This record gives sequence, C-alpha cells and structure tokens, in this order.
Amino acid sequence: MIDTHSHILPKLDDGSRNIDESIAILKILKEQGITHVIATPHFKMTDKSNSIDEFIIKRNESYQNLKNEIDKQGLDLPKIILGAEVLLTMDFVEAEDKEKLCIENTNIMLIELPYYEWQSWMLRMLRDLCNDNDIEPIIAHADRYVDFISNDMFEKLFSLGYKTQVNAEFVNDKTRVKRLKKWLKSGQICYIGSDTHGIDFRPPTFDNYFNKIKKTAGDAFIQNVSKHSTELIKKLENNLG
Ligand SMILES: [Fe+2]
Repeated sequence: MIDTHSHILPKLDDGSRNIDESIAILKILKEQGITHVIATPHFKMTDKSNSIDEFIIKRNESYQNLKNEIDKQGLDLPKIILGAEVLLTMDFVEAEDKEKLCIENTNIMLIELPYYEWQSWMLRMLRDLCNDNDIEPIIAHADRYVDFISNDMFEKLFSLGYKTQVNAEFVNDKTRVKRLKKWLKSGQICYIGSDTHGIDFRPPTFDNYFNKIKKTAGDAFIQNVSKHSTELIKKLENNLG
C-alpha cells in the first residue's frame, strides 16, 4: 500500500521537525501497512523568487540527510519516493520547468487547489496547466474542500476526469463521506494519503482507515484504491529501476 501524500522530510515545511521525527513517522507508517510513501513537501510559488530549482535542491538535501540516518541505523522502513504538493497559482502556471515537481521519474503531480471558493476560471487554469505541460495530476485531499465548495463546483472538478486523493482521516467525518459518496463510487477517488505532518500534528491514521473504510465506502472503493496503489507502486519501481 502506498501513501501518496505526506510531509515526512525533515525541516522543509510545516511537516517533520527533525530526522528523529521523520523516522518515528516512517515507523508508524510501516506498522500501519505502508510499503511506499511519496514525500510531498509544500511548494507554493507566490512570487518569482521562490524558485523551483532551489526547492528541489533543499528537498533532495533533506531526503539525503534522512536516508543517510536510516541507512546508518539499518532500519527497514517504507521506501521514500520524492514529489511535492504543488499549490495551483497563476505564478506557478506561468513558471518554467514545472515538470520538475512531478513525482520522481513520472509526469504525475500532486496538485493542491486553493482554499477559497473556486471559480470556473480556476478549473480552466488547472486543465490548461495539465494539457499544456503533459502533467497527469493527482488532486490532493478532495475531502478537505467540502466545507466551502458547492456540489456544482465539485461536479465541474470531477468532470475533468482527474485522479483524486483523499486523506485517510476522511473516514471519521460523515459529512465529508456523504458529499464525496458519488465519486467514491465512480472510481475517480483512487488514492489515499496520510497527509501526515508529524507525530503530534496529523499523525498517520491508516489503522483507523482500514478499520472503518469497508463500512464507510464499501468494497468497490477498497478494491479501486488497492488496484491503483499496486499500479502506482509498479510504475514507480519500474521507473526508478
Ligand atoms: Fe499536504
């Protein structure tokens, strides 16, 4: 099982505060049945000075420091794959080298949508970004938008046909489950993420997810997530060689 959304790399964003915390999170993920985890630190291009290249250098350094410690301690932990959680902004759409923020050796990008009421132009911007740059998006944590996005706008988002991720904690929230029911059944919501930020703030809860998911979303959803998880792991393993 793959965790497609996490903030496990140390000292990069509002996620893990240090290497020890990163290792502690990875141990929890392993206990909860995760074999692969995509590290998706926040990337927000609010102005042109926030360069994609600088972000990549810092992210890779953070990963290397963590990896060195894991190897030094001889730990058997979930395999870390590098990515980013990219906030959709106009500045990002206009930036060069956007594809560098895709998940390692793929054209897949975890895209976070803005936390304000979406307008149709924003969805057009998303579609153009993906079409023009051959990016295959994963829409991050659909469950987190339900409080301020209308059903009509959700319909428009899902009509784009993109694969979508929900946070494992969504199983605890009846309102979110109810609002997303149609798409939990349609197959477009096909990835689960912990969106873990640390051992205190949003720790991994796949154990709770596995306990509740059958009753909450049903067998078809479980099988769909499992299928996509297996396919993504295979693709990543092949690409990484
Ligand atoms: Fe996140």
